[in-house]
Amino acid sequence: MKDKFKELEDKIEKAKEGGGEKRVKAQHDKNKLTARERIHFLMDEGTFQEIGMLVTHRSSNFGLDKNKPLGDGVVTGFGEINGRLTYIFAQDFTVMGGSLAEAHAEKIVKIMDLAMKNGAPLIGLNDSGGARIQEGVVSLGGYADIFYRNTQASGVIPQLSAIMGPCAGGAVYSPALTDFIMMVENTSYMFVTGPNVVKTVTHEEVSAEELGGASAHSTKSGVTHFTYANEIECINGLKKLLSYIPQNCEEEAPSVNYESAEESRPKLNELLPENPNQPYDMREVINEIVDGNSFYEVHKDFAENIVVGFARLAGRSIGVVANQPAFLAGVLDINSSTKGARFVRFCDCFNIPLLVFEDVPGFLPGTDQEWNAIITNGAKLLYAFSEATVPRVTVITRKAYGGAYDVMNSKHIGADMNFAWPTAEIAVMGAKGAAEIIFRKEIAEAKDSEAKWKEKEAEYAEMFANPYNAAARGYVDEVIRPEQSREKLIAAFKMLENKVDTLPKKKHGNIPL
Ligand code: HXC
Repeated sequence: MKDKFKELEDKIEKAKEGGGEKRVKAQHDKNKLTARERIHFLMDEGTFQEIGMLVTHRSSNFGLDKNKPLGDGVVTGFGEINGRLTYIFAQDFTVMGGSLAEAHAEKIVKIMDLAMKNGAPLIGLNDSGGARIQEGVVSLGGYADIFYRNTQASGVIPQLSAIMGPCAGGAVYSPALTDFIMMVENTSYMFVTGPNVVKTVTHEEVSAEELGGASAHSTKSGVTHFTYANEIECINGLKKLLSYIPQNCEEEAPSVNYESAEESRPKLNELLPENPNQPYDMREVINEIVDGNSFYEVHKDFAENIVVGFARLAGRSIGVVANQPAFLAGVLDINSSTKGARFVRFCDCFNIPLLVFEDVPGFLPGTDQEWNAIITNGAKLLYAFSEATVPRVTVITRKAYGGAYDVMNSKHIGADMNFAWPTAEIAVMGAKGAAEIIFRKEIAEAKDSEAKWKEKEAEYAEMFANPYNAAARGYVDEVIRPEQSREKLIAAFKMLENKVDTLPKKKHGNIPL
C-alpha cells in the first residue's frame, strides 16, 4: 500500500517540476513566471484543483516516445478568484515550449466543457510555441477543437485570455475569439506570421516585439484590450476585470455595498470650457459621476476618440461608452466605432447596463475613412446599440450632431432614458456648416458675405445649439444641471433594474462585419 502512495507522490512531484530546474530558470531569466506560479498568484489561496496532471501525449513521432512529460505542457483545473468559481488553463513553456498537440488540447477542451456546463468564466494563460510540430495534423485538430468551443461559449460564459509569452500562427485565434485579451509588455507577442515570413513575403524588416508586442496591439491593431508592465500586474488586472462581470449570461454582475450619500457633484458645472470648440477630457466627467476609483478603462490606448470601460454606480456594475472631445474632437471613425460596438455587445451579452456620455461632432470625413468602409464600420456601433436590451441611459454633455446623434444610444434606437446638460447642441450639423449650405445664395448675394455668414450662423445656433428642441419632442427626457448627473443616473438605473426587453425571434442577426 505504502509503495502505491509513494508512486503517486513521486508522479505528482515530477509533474510539478515542469520542464526541470534549468528551463524554469530560463523562464525566470526572461522575467516570466511558470504556469503554476501564475495560477498560484491568480487563484484564491488553497482553492486550485488540478485536473489531468498525469496526462501524457501518445505520439512516438521523431522520438517523442522517449519524452512523455506529465501534464503535456499545460496545467488545467478550477478554483476561486475573489471567492467565485473560475476555470483555467495555463500553458507551461518549460515543457516542450508549451506546444499544443492532441493531449494538451484535450485537457483544455475538458476544462472548457466544464466551464460551459457549470456556467463559470474561463481564463486562458497563453505561453506556447504553437502547434507541436512533431505531432502534425493532430495539433491542428486540437486547435480547431478549442476554436469551436470558444465560439460556442461566446456570450454564454466570459472568456478571458492573458498572453504571457509567444502566441503565434493559428494559435492567435483562440484568444481572438474570447472576450478580452491582456498582454504583458516586452515578454509576450501575437502574430499570424512571424518576422521571418514577413521578411520573405513583403521584404519588411521588423522585430517580433514591433510586429506583435503589447505596444503594437494596444495602439495600432486594437487586438489587445489591456497591457501591463509585468505578469503580476496582469494577474491583478484579470482579478479586477472579473469583479465587474457575472459568472454567465443568466446572472447579474456582482455589486458592492453602497450607502447613499450626498450625490451632488458641483465640480461637473466647471468641467466644460466656455468655448464649445475647446476640448476637455471626458474621463474627468466619468470619474466625477461614477463611484470613486471604480472606472476601469478597456482599450485605453486604441481609438482614443471613444472611451469605454467598466465602472460602478451606487455599487452596481455598469459599462461606460463615451465620446472623447480631447482626442480628434471625439469624432466617430472606423476604429472607434468598432471598439465601441464590441464593448456594447459584451455588456449586452452579460447583463451589464450601459451608460453613454455624448459629445460628438459627427463622423470623420475623408477618403481614408470612406474607402476603408466607415459606412460598414459605423453601422456596427449603430447595430450594437440598437440590439442591446440591457438598461441604457445617455447623457448629452455638448455636441450631438448628425448621424452620430442617432448612433450614440439615442432614444430612437432604444435608449431608456436620455439626459442633456444645458450646454447640449443637438442638430443636423454645426452652425457654421449649416449656415453655409442653407443660406448659400443669401450669403453669396450679400454686400458683406462674411458678415452675412456670421449672422446666419448665429441665427442657426440660436435655434439649434441647445437641448430644448429635442426635449420638446421627448427625445431628451430631462435637461439637467451637470451637478445633478450622478443623482439622476442612480435613480434612472434603479428604475431600470428589472427591465425586460427581448428581440424578435430569429436565428441570429447579421451585424455588418
Ligand atoms: C515542438 C517546440 C515548439 C513547437 C518550441 N518548441 N516550439 N516543440 N513544437 N511548435 C520547443 C523547442 O524545440 C525547445 O525544446 C523548447 O520548446 C523551447 O524553445 P526554444 O526555441 O528554446 O525557446 P525560445 O528561444 O524562447 O524560442 C521560442 C519560440 C521558438 C520563438 C516560440 O521555440 C519557435 O520559434 N518555435 C516554433 C514556433 C512555430 O513555428 N510554431 C508553429 C507555429 S504554426 P528543447 O527541448 O530544445 O528545450 C502554428 C499553427 C497553429 O502554431 C495552427 C492552428 C490552426
